[in-house]
Amino acid sequence: MSHSERAYCRFVAVAGVAAALLAGNGRAAADGRALYAACIPCHGARGEGIASTGAPNIAGGESWYLQRQLQEFAAGRRGAAAGDTYGAAMRAASGVLRSDADRLAVATYVSSLRRIRSADTAPAASSNGRNYYNAICSACHGANGRGNEKLGAPRLAGLATAYVARQLNAFKTGQRGSDPADRLGAQMRAVAAMLPDEETAREVVRYATGLEP
Ligand code: HEC
Ligand code: HEC
Repeated sequence: MSHSERAYCRFVAVAGVAAALLAGNGRAAADGRALYAACIPCHGARGEGIASTGAPNIAGGESWYLQRQLQEFAAGRRGAAAGDTYGAAMRAASGVLRSDADRLAVATYVSSLRRIRSADTAPAASSNGRNYYNAICSACHGANGRGNEKLGAPRLAGLATAYVARQLNAFKTGQRGSDPADRLGAQMRAVAAMLPDEETAREVVRYATGLEP
């Protein structure tokens, strides 16, 4: 190899490293895994949720749903109602996500995590819960509880029973889904009002979360 060939090779090698560094920096602006570090204290390293913080199991959730919820929190359409302390905590936490690119990146990362069945779930024994679920909820959330992107309805299977019960109640009382711009939340509010009593609501929730995630 001549001197000038060697110099050229060195130039190509250095340019290659510089390009890789630049690309790395570009990605760092919306690196989902790095952004997720801020979420771990509440949602857990595997996205499994931590009951004492009220933060739900989000591992393997659908990125379109997670991203939309992050937008709802950021815009104050979720988590802004009086008395919604869990929602307010998440709203404050969502401030570390500065842009739609950040929200997309972290949602994509979370959706890549392996799904986990929450500790407080069990395959349901009550046929009342199953009957109501199949009559009302399955139309949007699916008979298998895995959600339906076209309808905007998320997975319920495997989510923590306590979290899902709390959300159903939040829709019922209007703490969630009352913002005029929250069309999908409004749909859920109408549905929550269809359950006849609290015992039925509990059984439906137990059935839904007990389905295989
Ligand atoms: C201070 C604790 C805390 C931190 C930090 C936190 N969250 Fe949350 N998160 C919560 C709580 C509590 C809820 C449930 C809110 C409710 O009850 O409406 C929640 C809800 C969510 C939801 C809605 C899930 C659903 O099924 O609708 C998503 C998505 C989410 N968090 C993502 C994140 C991401 C991504 C981060 C990191 C950028 C993060 N959270 C950081 C506490 C936290
Ligand atoms: C008409 C369609 C429809 C029906 C029927 C329906 N849902 Fe929903 N559900 C939705 C949509 C859409 C969302 C997402 C709302 C949002 O984006 O905030 C949702 C969200 C939820 C959530 C919040 C999940 C989370 O991760 O925070 C729960 C809990 C829920 N539904 C339970 C139920 C139950 C229980 C039933 C049956 C009694 C039911 N839904 C029936 C459309 C429906």
